[in-house]
Amino acid sequence: MPYSKKLLDHYEHPRNVGTLDAERKDVGTGMVGAPACGDVMRLQIQVNDKTGVIEDAKFKTYGCGSAIASSSLVTEWVKGKTLSEAEALKNSQIAEELALPPVKIHCSILAEDAVKAAIADYRSKQSSKNAKA
Ligand code: FES
Ligand code: FES
Repeated sequence: MPYSKKLLDHYEHPRNVGTLDAERKDVGTGMVGAPACGDVMRLQIQVNDKTGVIEDAKFKTYGCGSAIASSSLVTEWVKGKTLSEAEALKNSQIAEELALPPVKIHCSILAEDAVKAAIADYRSKQSSKNAKA
């Protein structure tokens, strides 16, 4: 089955590859692995504390082309979104946008899980900050 143009584009020109400073209070880091294949994805978001809007996102993925394309796509999608909007993103939207074949659906689940893990990390940092204040 041939891969879609969008998938190949994100695979060949991944957006937002890189690292944000995980020590920063306004950065949330999500690190997830796919049990199906052992691939690993790290996704980070930088959030505006006042507005709750995601201002930057970066990823690094050790994995297949579909996992790289899925993480590239979600970093584009979450930028400019609020945390709750980003949380509502579904792996099925990623799979549809990239026209992932059925055996690659779990790669999009990895991306959804990575976003959720990054948001959870950001929230736990915020609540520990507030607890100290
Ligand atoms: Fe390892 Fe996806 S199975 S690259
Ligand atoms: Fe496992 Fe893509 S993340 S094959």
